[in-house]
Amino acid sequence: MSNRHSLSTTFVHAGRNKRFLQGSVNPIIQRASSLVFDNLAHKKQATLQRAKGSLFYGRRGTLTHFALQEAMTELEGGAGCYLYPCGAAAVTHSILSFVQSGDHILMSGAAYEPSQDFCNLLLKRFQVETTYYDPMIGEGISSLIQQNTKVLFLEAPSSLTMEIPDIPSIVKAARQVNPDIVIMIDNTWSAGVLFKALEHDIDISIQAGTKYLVGHSDVMIGTAVANARCWDKLRENSYLMGQMVDADSAYVTARGIRTLGIRLKQHEENALKVARWLTSQPQVKAVYHPALASCPGHAFFKRDFTGASGLFSFELQQKLTQQQLECFMNHFSLFSMAYSWGGFESLILYNQPEEIMAIRPSIERKLSGTLIRVHIGLEDPEDLIADLQAGFERLTQCAD
Ligand SMILES: Cc1ncc(COP(=O)(O)O)c(C=O)c1O
Repeated sequence: MSNRHSLSTTFVHAGRNKRFLQGSVNPIIQRASSLVFDNLAHKKQATLQRAKGSLFYGRRGTLTHFALQEAMTELEGGAGCYLYPCGAAAVTHSILSFVQSGDHILMSGAAYEPSQDFCNLLLKRFQVETTYYDPMIGEGISSLIQQNTKVLFLEAPSSLTMEIPDIPSIVKAARQVNPDIVIMIDNTWSAGVLFKALEHDIDISIQAGTKYLVGHSDVMIGTAVANARCWDKLRENSYLMGQMVDADSAYVTARGIRTLGIRLKQHEENALKVARWLTSQPQVKAVYHPALASCPGHAFFKRDFTGASGLFSFELQQKLTQQQLECFMNHFSLFSMAYSWGGFESLILYNQPEEIMAIRPSIERKLSGTLIRVHIGLEDPEDLIADLQAGFERLTQCAD
C-alpha cells in the first residue's frame, strides 16, 4: 500500500495483500512446518527467495506470518519486521543479533526490569558489558560511548516511572561519536505508531505486541521492525536463534491491528480523564502521565509523540503500610491486579519506593510514596474514577 494514506487507513489495509487473503477479508491461517515444492525448480526458487516472502519452511513463516510482517513494516516504516514469541524475546534477540563477546552496550537504567536482568545475568556471562544511563541524560550519552559500544537501547517512556527521554538529542549525540552504533527502542507504549522511531534515526523499533497490537490480553508476541541497514542481520540472526511464532498468534495480532487506531484513541482519552482527576486527589502527590506537565520529559513528549496510550503511574503522598495496601488494592471492582497491559481492560499494580530504587540503582530521581501503575482500558472513565475514588475512601478508613 502506498504511504499517501493516513494512519487510520493504514491500520485497516496494511498487509492485506491478495496473496495472503485468498478471497477472504483477513489473511488465511496457514499452519505449517513442511511446505511442499512442486518440483526441483520450485524448490530452488523457494530456497533463493526464502528470506523474501517465499514459502520455504515453517520456521521462515507462512502466508499468515507474512501478512503480519508486511503490516508492521508498513505501519512503522521499516525494511522488514521479525516476529518473536513474546516481547522479552524481541528485546533479547534484537540485542543478541548485534553483539559479540568483548562488546559493550548502553541500556536505559529505567528500562523494563527483565530487559535489565537479561543484561546483568546473560549478556554478562558472554562478556558483553552493560552501562546503564539515566533516561534524562540527553546529549550526555556521548560521554558513555566506548570504542566497543555496539548497541544503544532506549525505552520510552520508562517502565513504571514514565520518564520521556530527549530521544533526538540522545540519538544525535550517539551518532556523532559512532555513526554505526545500532540504536534500538522498546516502543511498546506507543504501539510503534505514536512515536515513529525509524523516522528519528533509530534502527530497530521493538514492541511487546502482547500489549496494544493484540489488545485483548490473550496472546503473547513480540515484533521488531528494522531499517534497511539492520534488517538483514536482525532477520538472519534471529532465524539462527530459532525465533518464530505460531500462525494463530500471528493471525490474532494482525486482526488486532485493524482496531488499533480507535482503541488507542479511546485509551488515550480515558487515561487522560482519569489522570487529570487524579491530579486533584489529596492522597496523590504527582501523576506521571507523559501528556501532563508533572511527568519528567513532558516537553519531549509534546514535541516527539503524536499521542498517548493508556498506561501511566501516580505517586501517593505516603508510602502505604501493608494493611493500607490491602485496604486499597484488594477491593477494586473494575481494576484487576495483573502484570502486562494494553488490553481492553483496566489493570492496577503498585510498587514501593525501595522496590523502584532496587530495580533502577543508577537513577538519581527517587520516590518517597507508593507508586501505583494503572492501565486504563475501554470502560467508561467515570466508572473507573468511581472505582479509584472508592479505593481512596477505603484508605482513609483503614487503620494503619
Ligand atoms: C515495556 C515492556 N517491554 C517488554 C515487555 C515484555 O513483553 P512480553 O510480556 O510480551 O514478553 C513488557 C511486558 O510487560 C513491557 O512492559
